[in-house]
Amino acid sequence: ASVVQRLWRGRVSADMLSPRLQRAMKDYVSANKHHVSYKGHRRTAQSAKELVCQMKAQARLRTVDGTEQPFSSLGWGGLVPSLPLEQLYRQQDRSSFKTCAVVTSAGAILRSGLGKEIDTHDAVLRFNAAPTEGYERDVGNKTTIRIINSQILANPKHRFNTSSIYKNVTLVAWDPAPYTINLQKWYTSPDYNLFGPYVEHRKLHPGQPFYILHPSYVWRLWDVIQGNTQENIQPNPPSSGFIGILLMMALCEQVHVYEYIPSMRQTDLCHYHEGYYDAACTLGAYHPLLYEKSLIQRINMGPESDLRRKGRVTLPGFSAVDC
Ligand code: C5P
Repeated sequence: ASVVQRLWRGRVSADMLSPRLQRAMKDYVSANKHHVSYKGHRRTAQSAKELVCQMKAQARLRTVDGTEQPFSSLGWGGLVPSLPLEQLYRQQDRSSFKTCAVVTSAGAILRSGLGKEIDTHDAVLRFNAAPTEGYERDVGNKTTIRIINSQILANPKHRFNTSSIYKNVTLVAWDPAPYTINLQKWYTSPDYNLFGPYVEHRKLHPGQPFYILHPSYVWRLWDVIQGNTQENIQPNPPSSGFIGILLMMALCEQVHVYEYIPSMRQTDLCHYHEGYYDAACTLGAYHPLLYEKSLIQRINMGPESDLRRKGRVTLPGFSAVDC
């Protein structure tokens, strides 16, 4: 069976990858750039419900709120949005959104015709620089939240301050800190400097909700992946895709994810909006993507026909499960 067919059934292992991707993975494991040392369990047989409950308990949504050093001394208490992200869309105690869509940037979404379906959701999450303009038939045009990595803020080529992609949406940025969280170290040497542009943007546009994920949130998500995988996964943060899926599970009653687990349209085209080809975008090299995807497949409530035809996964929001 092909890697994609195995993903549809949820049985994956690094030895299914091409020699090139296996080598890249091994190199990341030995580099261990973020000084990860995992001491927890490695469960194999948790049910879908147990998995979702573990995610709900272990991966509580958390953003930088300005109460910890060095951010408290820098006055971030008054800089970050006054309403926490979990409360931003909440209505009288009820879960914020009924149905949400998470739209990955995979090339396989091209010629899917999924745009209309995606736009019927109450909220739509997109990633990084992925555009809607010109691709509406396949990806829709509604954007509620956009997750951006620190390169978007730090690299001038993305025109973060002027591009319309980043306007009129809630922004959620992230950057990897050391595994044993040291916020001071993170602040002085982030992967890409997001702090300066963040402060500047907050001052210019105080009315736009804009958060930075707490690095401990990102690593607790990683722990959930390693804690349910027998093999050693890459000691690097989960992909934005995985982070976005779990973020939406915290905000929505039901989540539909598009082209994360590849459909029959699977392709090495990395992004739907760029002519760049690399299987690593779908199967992972730096990020533990293969294992993330296997975990998401295990909690999928939708039929395999949705995976094949739409690349669509159906997940319960945390408010919809009794743990
Ligand atoms: O590349 P980028 O991180 O901006 O893409 C957003 C997310 O979409 C990725 O983090 C990954 O989870 C998912 N993706 C994918 N397959 C691709 C491209 C992106 O699963 N070919």
